[in-house]
Amino acid sequence: MEVVGSRSEKGSFSRFVVFVILADSGIVNFVTHGPLSPLLLSSLALIYFPFLFLENKKPPKYSLDMNKNINSIHIFFSIYVSFTIFLAQSAPQNAIISQVPGFNGTIPSKHYAGYVTIDENHGKKLYYYYVLSERNPSQDPVVLWLNGGPGCSSFDGFVYEHGPFNFEKTGGLPKLHLNPYTWTKVSNVIYLDSPAGVGMSYSANKSDYITMDTKTALDSHKFLLEWFKLYPEYLSNPFFIAGESYAGVYVPMLSYEVMKGLDAGDKPTLNFKGYMVGNGVTDDVFDGNALVPFAHGMGLISDELFQEVTKECQGNYYSPTNADCESKIVKVDEDLDGLNIYDILEPCYHGDSSSKIRHGNTKLPMSFRKLGETERPLPVRTRMFGRAWPFRAPVKAGYVPTWPELLNSAENVPCTDDEVATKWLNNEAVRSAIHADPISVVGNWELCTDKIRYYHDAGSMIKYHQNLTARGFRALIYSGDHDMCVPFTGSEAWTRSLGYEVTDEWRNWQVDGQVSGFVQGYSNGLTFLTVKGSGHTVPEYKPKEALAFYSRWLEGRKI
Ligand SMILES: *[C@@H]1O[C@H](CO)[C@@H](O)[C@H](O)[C@H]1NC(C)=O
Ligand SMILES: *[C@@H]1O[C@H](CO)[C@@H](O)[C@H](O)[C@H]1NC(C)=O
Ligand SMILES: *[C@@H]1O[C@H](CO)[C@@H](O)[C@H](O)[C@H]1NC(C)=O
Repeated sequence: MEVVGSRSEKGSFSRFVVFVILADSGIVNFVTHGPLSPLLLSSLALIYFPFLFLENKKPPKYSLDMNKNINSIHIFFSIYVSFTIFLAQSAPQNAIISQVPGFNGTIPSKHYAGYVTIDENHGKKLYYYYVLSERNPSQDPVVLWLNGGPGCSSFDGFVYEHGPFNFEKTGGLPKLHLNPYTWTKVSNVIYLDSPAGVGMSYSANKSDYITMDTKTALDSHKFLLEWFKLYPEYLSNPFFIAGESYAGVYVPMLSYEVMKGLDAGDKPTLNFKGYMVGNGVTDDVFDGNALVPFAHGMGLISDELFQEVTKECQGNYYSPTNADCESKIVKVDEDLDGLNIYDILEPCYHGDSSSKIRHGNTKLPMSFRKLGETERPLPVRTRMFGRAWPFRAPVKAGYVPTWPELLNSAENVPCTDDEVATKWLNNEAVRSAIHADPISVVGNWELCTDKIRYYHDAGSMIKYHQNLTARGFRALIYSGDHDMCVPFTGSEAWTRSLGYEVTDEWRNWQVDGQVSGFVQGYSNGLTFLTVKGSGHTVPEYKPKEALAFYSRWLEGRKI
């Protein structure tokens, strides 16, 4: 723009320059998100175009060469301005959320939501909720957030983890308060319900509900390309993909699709920078073998049993090959019985469902059937989350049952209370306000659904992590260190197994002068981090610490 600016005194260029600077500096982005935007853009256009017309009618005042220049610059800017106006207006004004039921106050940033159709013939539509940063939306990163399951809605993250509101349970519609630790303090977050059939996303052709890792990644990539066409003003922001639990599969697979798309020259060009995975399912061997050392390190099994199980199983706890090993594993399972697998420090709510899991469904691994037994049910349901596959089962190749299927009924995820989210998202006024289709079209919103049949067809994620990090995409692998569902011991071991040089040796990281966990940095932009005292869904347990490491990592600062 400097080149043009230097000639501005020659004529009408200053106006263009101002407009171009407006456009480039994000002011136009900002303006288009305001109610006056179409008006303002039209006025700018009106000011400019008549002037262009008049200017061209003037008798030649400059040398021929100069005149040619002026004309070509005029043409260039006409195109640029029209294009900018076109782009700016293509931001979906009908996606703006004007009010959020249950919240009585001023929303600190703009919210958008709606559907992106990824298959016209099938009527396959993915739902997103886009929250702009409360800081500097035109500069802050765009982060795509995915919850796992498979089958769990990303409203889990929105309602219970790092969304803009905290939801207070009332008799009726939940009351919403601002969340001081929302990740939208420092980033623009897209909450995506994926694959179709999950949360608010659906397809008119139910054959789409039979799906798998590879198909989910292709669909989500399609979504991203279409989404950025709707929001082109965010294309230049750094873009990251994040998720937790079974999204330990979604995130690297989608990142890999994005990388392939960039190589293939897919348009629009995403400014993809990296990804983060929390307590993520990664590799059946590493994750499957993580439990025994975790249980010993946490003081949940005795030294004697640890020695015996180590001797009999030779490090292979995941698929015992002899009866002695198997009997020791059963002893380990017995010792772990009664703990909340998502946070061993927390109690677990038990309705009838836990006994159904234990006794009713013999397809389940013994360890899971016996899990969560306790003598005294808690009087109050404490929300403890779930939304992940029970331990040791998630990463096996092939069919992955959904939570409701595990429960053999339409009951809730064990140890969880999804009441506020369920109440809010099944209220038609809320659905209309957040541009989700009504219950008659989508069905009831469920935290985790059994509508889909999901197959794990991609195997270990380690090869994807290797490729992505080797190509310079940054990766943060973080673990709540009291999660027994996907224990940190597995994530620590597989990250180390990549064999990258240690560039930031194991040390604590702090918030407010307190140790909040530990971190080890590797070459190729790989970081492994633990969050002290946190369970499976880190931002839910440790919101302040989560926002701290999240914002430091996004900005590329030392955590
Ligand atoms: C919303 O806030 C206003 C002002 O604080 C208050 O008068 C009103 O009763 C509140 N409404 C609800 C539904 O809480
Ligand atoms: C759904 O999609 C499948 C696969 O494309 C197709 O064979 C089938 O005819 C479709 N069903 C309907 C009802 O459109
Ligand atoms: C990773 O990259 C290499 C070479 O760039 C390629 O041969 C390999 O197939 C890739 N891995 C995966 C998982 O596709």
